[in-house]
Amino acid sequence: MKISYIQPNTLKEEQIAWISLKENQKDSRFFTDESKEQMLIIGLEKRKGITRRKLYILMRKVVALTKQHGIKSVAINFSEFSFPHLKIKPQELSELLAINFEMANFEFVHYKTPPEDGWNMVEKIYLIGPKNASIQKGLERGQIIAHEVNTSRILANTPGGDMTPELLALAAVGAVKKLGVKVKILQTEDMKKLGMGGVLGVAKGSQEKPKFIILEYFGKKTGKPVVLVGKGVTFDTGGLNLKPGDSMLEMNMDMSGGAAVIHAIAAIATLKIKKNVIGLIPAVENMPSGTSFRPGDILKSMSGKTIEVLNTDAEGRIILADALTYAKKYNPRMVVDVATLTGAALVAVGQKASALFSKDENLIKLFRNLGEETGEYVWPLPLWDEFEDDIKGTFGDIINTGKTRYAGATLGAIFLYQFAKDYPWVHLDIAPRMTSTEGEYLAKGSVGAPIRLLVKLIEQY
Ligand code: BES
Ligand code: MN
Ligand code: ZN
Repeated sequence: MKISYIQPNTLKEEQIAWISLKENQKDSRFFTDESKEQMLIIGLEKRKGITRRKLYILMRKVVALTKQHGIKSVAINFSEFSFPHLKIKPQELSELLAINFEMANFEFVHYKTPPEDGWNMVEKIYLIGPKNASIQKGLERGQIIAHEVNTSRILANTPGGDMTPELLALAAVGAVKKLGVKVKILQTEDMKKLGMGGVLGVAKGSQEKPKFIILEYFGKKTGKPVVLVGKGVTFDTGGLNLKPGDSMLEMNMDMSGGAAVIHAIAAIATLKIKKNVIGLIPAVENMPSGTSFRPGDILKSMSGKTIEVLNTDAEGRIILADALTYAKKYNPRMVVDVATLTGAALVAVGQKASALFSKDENLIKLFRNLGEETGEYVWPLPLWDEFEDDIKGTFGDIINTGKTRYAGATLGAIFLYQFAKDYPWVHLDIAPRMTSTEGEYLAKGSVGAPIRLLVKLIEQY
């Protein structure tokens, strides 16, 4: 989609519909007026009643309705989106507009035969307003970020058979190499030398060889980097503790965290942000077979700690353990891991926010603010030391599931924390945000969380 910011009376397009927002109106209306101009009136509540949260939805609704009516080109006054009581600066507003427009326009049609008259997507949006460099800048930034968000959605939506660890590694190279980001892919032999028994253990059941993807972006000469770690399970069957029925279906998206890290770094590099950022993505497929790791197996992690496997379906934390240990090599300022780690996180917080864990109250505050600022909400859950008792091993150092069936998201987090005690650390359990839900005006499937939050984090931290 092309989003242009143009001045009044410079619009040359003929086949165009005008969009307008109208207060105190529930429905939307599409019609051709006396001057033969197409109009799409979108109703909204009192303008004063709009919150930041509602604004994101409204922006996406504009594109969703435009698509629904089969309109290809639209014009809309930039001032329609001005809500002075929200105190959003013009550049931020235009960035949010570009991001939410692009995200709402996205459809995963890569495996479908195109209809004869093409896909129902918006091709051009003209935003009309007075000459303004910061609005222009915001649009450009927004489009860069949205492009990466949507590309990560493609990766996550791609079926498991077409998105193996090897293909994920190739996708990472394709996404960032051209931007001057250094990419290293560790192979099985490299991981053996490093003692990454966690990644290697989980990968054992699959024909697909594991890859450990490393991205290094240096936006400035000196300074400790932030390390982003993403779970890259390209398909999670559960392993020998096979997932039942429907719960396996969407597990091609269990590499969403990895895809988010890859494309957050691509956005950061494209925006030329002057910070140092490292991405680490352990990529494996979790399969049952004659060569699988078993319940009861004890894996030796890179840290030296042994992991007693009580359930092969709690595989994410095992591979992340090695990545969190590997992160120490970079003497990080902070490590953030992003993982579709537990179904329990959905039970706890629902599908509107990712679950947030950290020992650092200031980081919790920062992340919550970033969440509101970007629309990628996060919500804190406990990470108290007392939970360490629940993951004590019988024959190994720690078990990969809890002794209790309660607080499942916290147990995953407290497990990870055992490997993340040497630096400031945040864990985002993004299982709640793996797929879109009704009413958020996003296509079915991946939503690309939490790339927008990560980009803002790197800019501000
Ligand atoms: N990838 C899943 C978690 C998940 C579930 C993500 C639903 C998105 C939607 C993870 O590997 C898993 O299977 N977790 C188990 C942990 C349990 C065995 C302790 C779970 O949540 O059931
Ligand atoms: Mn699992
Ligand atoms: Zn998983």
